[in-house]
Amino acid sequence: MENKRENWGSRIGFIMAAAGSSVGLGNIWRFPYLAGENGGGAFIAVYLVFIIFIGVSIMLAEFAVGRKTGLAAVGAYKKINKNFTFAGVLGVLSAFFIMGFYPVVGGWASAYILKSFTGLLSNPAAIGDVFGEFIGNPVEPIVWMAIYLVVNIVIVAKGIAGGIEKAGKILMPTLFVLLIAIAVRSVTLPGASAGLDFLFKPDWSSIDGGVLLAALGQAFFSLSLGMGCMITYGSYLSKSENLPSSALTVSLMDTGVALLAGIALFPALFAFGLEPAAGPGLVFVVAPQIFASMGGIGVLFSALFFIALTIAALTSSVSLLEVVVAYLIDERGWARGKSVYTAGGIMVVTGILSSLSLGVMSGVTVFGVGAFDFFDILTDKIFLAIGGLILAVFVGWFMDKNELKEEITNGGKVSFGLFDIWYNLVKFVIPVAIAIVAFFGITGIEQTSLMIFGVGIIVVLGLFSKKL
Ligand code: PHE
Repeated sequence: MENKRENWGSRIGFIMAAAGSSVGLGNIWRFPYLAGENGGGAFIAVYLVFIIFIGVSIMLAEFAVGRKTGLAAVGAYKKINKNFTFAGVLGVLSAFFIMGFYPVVGGWASAYILKSFTGLLSNPAAIGDVFGEFIGNPVEPIVWMAIYLVVNIVIVAKGIAGGIEKAGKILMPTLFVLLIAIAVRSVTLPGASAGLDFLFKPDWSSIDGGVLLAALGQAFFSLSLGMGCMITYGSYLSKSENLPSSALTVSLMDTGVALLAGIALFPALFAFGLEPAAGPGLVFVVAPQIFASMGGIGVLFSALFFIALTIAALTSSVSLLEVVVAYLIDERGWARGKSVYTAGGIMVVTGILSSLSLGVMSGVTVFGVGAFDFFDILTDKIFLAIGGLILAVFVGWFMDKNELKEEITNGGKVSFGLFDIWYNLVKFVIPVAIAIVAFFGITGIEQTSLMIFGVGIIVVLGLFSKKL
């Protein structure tokens, strides 16, 4: 089908798919609450630096590895150097772990579509309590998580991700427009300027190792990097696609949506006198209050917003499930159906554990944290960033520079004057930068035993790389 299209037709298709993977809960749910917890402006400034100097370069590197080998993550590493197969497997594990908590939040977003109509907005003062009670309930969020996950399973089992991408093509711009509308409403509320100050007047004293690691991990999470997703997407790319401009476009879209979400939420948050460090409930508490302040039309805005958020989440989680499934099909020789139902079935269990860990099972912990935090912290605070570090070392030190140049410039047809800068960033600067941030972040964090466990997993995978 793509062959019949002109080049730009498939190019838009690719960009939309990659943007669909990257724009998701990471931008609208995670970014604002992390910014709130980590002091606002300074966190955002560091985040932007990481996106510009690390994220875009790593994305370009992942596209290049994927397109050059024509293989998904594990196969791509294996083909070039078997000592790195473990990096691909680590990526699959990351996808699996992210799917341990992502569907729980996807379920919350879906539930809020319905809640928009059933009185959520009629009592603004109770919106915070409604959220707390909802996520701690032992049944309701699990039902929504299961529905959300089943939708993922059906899409990936049927190989109809194209369908969801089509929905994404309409709903992602809708989300963007809605965010702009919400932002306008938000900044015009009395007392909103404190929120803009919080976002854009950095207080540098709030920065420490933990904040840096949070920003780095979020950059990887939000751009879908460090776990093989963009390698896999790159493997579907045609040889005529412009890799540098694709990486830049996707990164810009992703960052734009995250910043917009911040501008939509924080002015309102301050106007309503809420706490910026309120944690994972931020979007689910602040956005409905904004909608409630809109009068009758608010219900419609609310429903549309949560529909668009659910679809944005779906286009991301489908790509995560696909990474796991592609591994089982390509490397383990399983049939697609068996792969999807097995992986999906286990994710139902991890999702139930994650959801319960926020309520009735909050006392049950491993390494000091509940299931939700276990999956979240392991991936976001170590696996993705270390995955990015390994990829940078791999590309910089174990691939041929001239071949990389060939690949990235489409054999000289695309001019990319920044090639040497990119190459040196990937080879020297990025590995060192990630190592430093990871060291200070990991040693400064409270969950030390969990971090050691995570690093241990990576080391063990590395030792057995050739057997994987
Ligand atoms: N980038 C997605 C988001 O922001 C999450 C994701 C991470 C998707 C890693 C794929 C791979 O929601």
